[in-house]
Amino acid sequence: MKTAPESSRLFRTLLEGLETKRLIVQREFEAQKTIEERRKLGQFSTPPELAREIVSFALKNFDLENKIRFFDPAFGTGVFYSALLALTKPENITLATALEIDPVLAKAAANLWHDFNITIVKADFTQSDPIDKYNLIICNPPYVRHHLIDPDQKNLIRQRTKLISGINFSGLAFLYCHFLSQSIQWMDEGALAGWLIPSEFMEVNYGKALKEFLLTKTDLFRIHRFDMAKLQFKDALVTSALVWFRKSPLKSKSLEFSFGNSLNFPSVIIKINKVDLLNQDKWNHLSDSQSPKNEKNLSAPKLKDYFQVKRGIATGANDFFILEETRIHQLGLPLEFFRPILPSLRFLKTLEIEADEFGHTILPKPLFLLDCHLNEDEIKKNYPTLFRYLESGRLKVANRYLCRSRKCWYFQEQRQVPLFVCSYMGRPTNKNKSAFRFILNNSKAIVSNSYLALYPNKNLAQSLERKPELKSFILASLNDLPLENIQKLGRVYGGGLNKIEPRELLNLSLPFLKNIDS
Ligand SMILES: C[S@@+](CC[C@H](N)C(=O)[O-])C[C@H]1O[C@@H](n2cnc3c(N)ncnc32)[C@H](O)[C@@H]1O
Repeated sequence: MKTAPESSRLFRTLLEGLETKRLIVQREFEAQKTIEERRKLGQFSTPPELAREIVSFALKNFDLENKIRFFDPAFGTGVFYSALLALTKPENITLATALEIDPVLAKAAANLWHDFNITIVKADFTQSDPIDKYNLIICNPPYVRHHLIDPDQKNLIRQRTKLISGINFSGLAFLYCHFLSQSIQWMDEGALAGWLIPSEFMEVNYGKALKEFLLTKTDLFRIHRFDMAKLQFKDALVTSALVWFRKSPLKSKSLEFSFGNSLNFPSVIIKINKVDLLNQDKWNHLSDSQSPKNEKNLSAPKLKDYFQVKRGIATGANDFFILEETRIHQLGLPLEFFRPILPSLRFLKTLEIEADEFGHTILPKPLFLLDCHLNEDEIKKNYPTLFRYLESGRLKVANRYLCRSRKCWYFQEQRQVPLFVCSYMGRPTNKNKSAFRFILNNSKAIVSNSYLALYPNKNLAQSLERKPELKSFILASLNDLPLENIQKLGRVYGGGLNKIEPRELLNLSLPFLKNIDS
């Protein structure tokens, strides 16, 4: 007969072997599918180290007096179950159930875990009624974007979510929102749930309903946001958050937000009152808000105190409407119908755009936007070369959505010349530490929608007229701002791609402008 330590050792060895096998099965499964196929069902598995970190946090917050009744509604090959078996004694788990929609995965998982006390059901979680009630749910749900879900199925899912949770999600909600909200009916009173989901729910519109669910229907107690520089999933471009809540009629007044490093040892952790959260549109950067840098900036003027910000124009077809000067000459087109426009930021080597006496950019390859507001008859009669050029675009360009919706397909939106411009999207590189670059525009060039255009308000314009040297000061100071000051206003995608909308940039603190009037 085996002694207890002996059988425990045997069990660990068996488990290690199984985990190795599980990883092979997972890898083989992924190798057989294209990324597009995997996206349709959100098939991106959790790295085993992360799964262990999550399960170990769960166990710290779980009272083992109550035996574990475990449920994973998006099982895959069972990374969380494997971590759970590795981190607690098997006798602590009295019940385990898993759902998986993919028949291949469900079968592979059932084979893998055949000798264990877990029921694996091939089923669609969003359409399933609870088989039992559980006190521990750990899940990495499918992130599937709304447009990849069949519209009829999406309606069904939304109706069910509303019925189960009382929350009305917009049609734009990703599938994971429904998973989270529907899971409440599978939970015992007091049950603990940990969900690994994209952190963007904290800042995008469709996430509002999920935040409402978490605040009003659960006892949310912790949100950990992973550092975006360290992607959790190598093959899916998302930054992740872990959301922890209990099902309880009693709601604690505050919750913890943490950021960076690891879930169990975060770089920052702060407590926030839930009532304060109700008035916060974006939760993503709450854990940053305690840093002295930000406190100092609270009373600093904002960009909106000095500038108007607009996205650059959408031409409808840059290839057709934006031409190099040499090409305009080659085609014999009249330069009077072109206005200077900046090339995209990657072609700009300087922070300041110089101009010639006509206001044209002094750049190796100056670009011009075709900007003619004459009607076609007039053009045909007086500018035959331009007419021929327009004719050459009639088939390919005139029918594009944006061109089609204009009064006349080649009429461009009219814009003032911006004094400063800034990239709309960017990624920090070794050479350029900031994802966003501000450029001072001394030319008459406008910009396309890969830029944001900054227009000084009347007061600032007057100050700049009196003291033109302020322009360089503002330029240098804007480019010196720490990247995270801009990042926390906008959005950051996995892989470090940053994006900022005009209304978001307006809230940028500009401490260096505090005494500009004097
Ligand atoms: C993000 S993966 C997570 C897999 C595994 N739990 C892990 O963490 O590695 C999501 C899993 O959910 C499955 N899935 C997608 N839609 C589902 C649905 N409606 N019901 C149940 N499972 C679903 C996918 O096939 C995939 O295996």
